[in-house]
Amino acid sequence: MAQATFHFPYGFLWGTATAAHQVEGNNTNNNWYAWEQIPGKIINGHKSGLACDWWNGRWREDFQRAAETGQNAHRLSVEWSRIQPTPDRWDEEALDRYLEMVRTLNELNITPMVTLHHFTNPLWLEEMGGWENEAFVGYFETFTRRVVKVLKDNVSLWCTLNEPNGNAVLAYLVGLWPPGKKDFAAMFRAVVNMVKAHAAAYHAIHVIQPQALVGMAINYRSLVPAKPWFPPDQWITGLFAMAMNTTFPLAAQNGVVQLAYKRQRIPQARATQDYIGFNYYTRDYVAFNLLKPGDLFAQRYFRPEAEKSLSGFLANEPEGMLEGLKWCMRFKVPIYITENGVEDPDDHLRPRYLAEHLHQVWRGVNNNLPIKGYFHWSLVDNFEWERGWTQRFGLWRLDEATQTRIRRPSVDFYEEICRENGLSANMVARYAPEAFAAIFPN
Ligand code: FCB
Repeated sequence: MAQATFHFPYGFLWGTATAAHQVEGNNTNNNWYAWEQIPGKIINGHKSGLACDWWNGRWREDFQRAAETGQNAHRLSVEWSRIQPTPDRWDEEALDRYLEMVRTLNELNITPMVTLHHFTNPLWLEEMGGWENEAFVGYFETFTRRVVKVLKDNVSLWCTLNEPNGNAVLAYLVGLWPPGKKDFAAMFRAVVNMVKAHAAAYHAIHVIQPQALVGMAINYRSLVPAKPWFPPDQWITGLFAMAMNTTFPLAAQNGVVQLAYKRQRIPQARATQDYIGFNYYTRDYVAFNLLKPGDLFAQRYFRPEAEKSLSGFLANEPEGMLEGLKWCMRFKVPIYITENGVEDPDDHLRPRYLAEHLHQVWRGVNNNLPIKGYFHWSLVDNFEWERGWTQRFGLWRLDEATQTRIRRPSVDFYEEICRENGLSANMVARYAPEAFAAIFPN
């Protein structure tokens, strides 16, 4: 048997990622909570409810779990609607609680990365038109300043927006997320304001904390032409990839938003990413289809032979990881893998998914790509947006009713990886034997 170890660079960050609304519980003052109350919006009528009960203090035990299992980083988000419950009121206690969280992380030798906006808007801001209203930008800048002033001694890695690309599409074009619009012009307005908000936050953070690293997390979808030799498939794949993946990081590089036939210059957004936050889950095959004008004439599907996650939400396509990491290079900044993971209640697929994806990450490292860290989604099962509690992404299983956490085998696997700062043949043989031959060929 091969006896190799794929090592990662000294100081590599190994952690998990979470988001406030998905773990805190009782976040009653934001647009997602309101959305959950509308029948038909969330699968099975699920609600975030107590979530993982972090707001009552269970973050402590979960951070402890992360520390005890060798993780040295954690990506979490702050909930704007708690910190600024109304436009003219700031909740210092909420801010103090976040301060306590990031202090505790540092005490546990866990480097925090803080996301300022992970999908949820305060209700008052949503009622003003949410992302479509340009006033959002100024409010977000003020909010950012407030948060950064309080947390700056404990946090130097900031993520302004989580997956603005996915958020804009699902909320303003597909209508699956609040405010449920299906309107290209509305989406374009949202995208422009998102880029402006990111830029405003970027500059605001650097005034307060010049040495901070600021970026945003993009949802990278690997897109491959269904028939690689067929020009219409190639063309539509390129167009779709440009719109889905490239719009935001390119705007943060060159200060221009370009989406299909619409274009807007936003000069203040130029050179506003110190790193690229890269979320990768899966790959689609894309075929040109005249019958799909609503989808930009792109019909997308998973490779039929690909292994799917339990609900069919993801296909296990590890090669898209390396492809995406190489794509990141065009932005000429360091890379953090800010999310990657799979829904898998019984932990059948997760160990293999982890091994195969980390192998691809290591190939990137070995090609000298400036990859600085990896955050697995997620630490513990949590509320998965419109999919409610039907998808289980946690290293730890959560029983919501009793708030009990149950260790999945992947915890042990990930712990060994974190402690070794590498992926070894021996680990793969024990935790993901089916992946062994492909990762360590004879
Ligand atoms: C990402 C989201 C994250 C989580 C995972 C499964 O798109 O950023 O909040 O829902 O998917």
